[in-house]
Amino acid sequence: MTSIVSISSLKGGVGKTSVTLGLASAAQACGLRVLVIDLDPHGDASTGLGSPTDGADMGAMLSAPDNYWLKDEIRPSSWTALGSLGQASRTGLEAGVWVGRASARLTALERSEPTDILLPHLARLLEPVSDDFDLILIDCPPTLGRLTEMAWAASERVLSVAEPSLFSVAGSERTMRAIARFESNTEYAVGSASIIMNKVRDNDPEHEYRTEEMRVLFGDLVAEIPIPETPLLQRIQGSAYPVHYWPEAEAQPLADAFTALLAGLVELEKAK
Ligand SMILES: Nc1ncnc2c1ncn2[C@@H]1O[C@H](COP(=O)(O)OP(=O)(O)O)[C@@H](O)[C@H]1O
Ligand SMILES: [Mg+2]
Repeated sequence: MTSIVSISSLKGGVGKTSVTLGLASAAQACGLRVLVIDLDPHGDASTGLGSPTDGADMGAMLSAPDNYWLKDEIRPSSWTALGSLGQASRTGLEAGVWVGRASARLTALERSEPTDILLPHLARLLEPVSDDFDLILIDCPPTLGRLTEMAWAASERVLSVAEPSLFSVAGSERTMRAIARFESNTEYAVGSASIIMNKVRDNDPEHEYRTEEMRVLFGDLVAEIPIPETPLLQRIQGSAYPVHYWPEAEAQPLADAFTALLAGLVELEKAK
């Protein structure tokens, strides 16, 4: 069965897109077939995946889900040509990352009036492709509008990304409160929510203090493995390349952190 996971944070710049791409890279490397739904109007995930620009974008599809068949509009990312580094996909289909691309028209949807009519639109689009992917990752915008609500309504799990900083602690509290409010105000339940610490530097007292503070505040909700901060990530993203395929050994700790994070989301076959 497909796992559907939203990557969220009501704060921008914390690493939602980076975590989405890191998980997608880990999944392809392990032989999984992944669909990334880019719901941020900036389209950073679409860019980072070298996504083709034909096919209807998510803004058009979410506005009129009955007029589209998602399977006809999504495209394989440029990463897919690299194949897998591991086991075959559980679906029996070729491993790789596919994209439902973003567009600026998502902005209008995000800001549209609250209406229950929109809420199930993404779930409705995803339903027919659930057997075609092992994992569906939804990269959310940093706002709590209609797009994030549609993403949460379609997801079994929400990952809230945080940096080890004072502002991010407050941002995580806001995100967790928003998830609780969403669950009590709608008929949808987010199966589980967790917090991913990103951009964590080793031997940095402020980062250690803030990470500890997050663990005290949120307990087991904070994922055990933090994602390290490394300037190399920006170079890798600048080349629209997956972390797990980067030739320099320096990328290994980053790749390992994303693989560990992925293992908490889907059951991975053990390499033989
Ligand atoms: N672990 C990391 N190490 C180094 N740079 C990072 C890391 N995570 C994110 N970044 C950088 O921080 C910036 C914001 O990250 P991004 O994933 O775009 O955040 P968001 O999607 O939440 O706005 C980008 O330039 C990205 O390359
Ligand atoms: Mg982003």
